[in-house]
Amino acid sequence: MRSFSAINPLRSYLSSFKSQGQSIGLVPTMGALHDGHKELVQNSLNENECTVVSVFVNKAQFNNPDDYSNYPDQVEKDLQILEALKCDVVFKPTDAIMYPSSTPLRFDFGPLETVMEGEFRPGHFSGVGLVVSKLLNIVTPDRAYFGQKDIQQCAVIKKLVADLNFPVDIRVVPTVRDKNGLALSSRNLLLTEEERIIASDIHGILSAARDMLLDKTNSISETKEVVIQRFKDHKDLNLEYFEVVSSQTLLPIKIIEEGEQTSLCIAAFIGNVRLIDNIYLFD
Ligand code: PAJ
Repeated sequence: MRSFSAINPLRSYLSSFKSQGQSIGLVPTMGALHDGHKELVQNSLNENECTVVSVFVNKAQFNNPDDYSNYPDQVEKDLQILEALKCDVVFKPTDAIMYPSSTPLRFDFGPLETVMEGEFRPGHFSGVGLVVSKLLNIVTPDRAYFGQKDIQQCAVIKKLVADLNFPVDIRVVPTVRDKNGLALSSRNLLLTEEERIIASDIHGILSAARDMLLDKTNSISETKEVVIQRFKDHKDLNLEYFEVVSSQTLLPIKIIEEGEQTSLCIAAFIGNVRLIDNIYLFD
């Protein structure tokens, strides 16, 4: 596995693959790699001659400074994981390499900024859009891989790629969960074993809400009330939002239309660790 922190050496290394017509897959990450990240990398390895994994904790997307300073850091372990997967290239830039300008560009993703992650994490998607644009320009991959777990991030990136004409195919990979249903997340490393079991209630409540909606006697607003009450009754979890949205626009819907792609999305705190998850209403 080749490792780069500077942009130009990485570009010239990748140009040899491009000149031979070999495809490049990019997997952007912020490190603290788990089986969810590995699944993205494996998808890229299966579909491309060269897989580049970026590891960069992107300060620009953290609206909460404590979240940034507490973000798990396990560089050596990450490199071992990528080596074992037979990843081709790791790109690990510094802040100075990624952000030489003191006045970084800002993005506005319109309605996506007003709901869920957009509403509760102001500026977050601007930071995501900025770093992903830079990574796409640096690597110019044929395919880039993102997790369904961050469903709104996937929508933001699809809009970015469409609106700015990036010649890349965006691949969305299903959420990888632990045996109790908890969606894997780097932030789970900040939880004790006991807290991880408690946090799996988030997926349990989400699944129960899906069952309520599929049993057509419950409206979206009734289902929402039940979810809100279950969190009020829960001594360890605090709900930030629960929304039933169109899987395309990510905007909340009022009525379920049979066959329309619909997602149930949630953000909740366990202590001061914020976790998000989502599931499709229909398989
Ligand atoms: P990070 O949280 O490290 O996640 C990197 C990628 O892994 C994202 O596309 C995310 O959706 C995916 N992922 C996380 N948990 C997953 C799971 N349980 N199953 C499947 N995929 C999962 O998301 C980011 O970093 C950043 O915002 C980034 C895109 C790298 C930009 O800085």
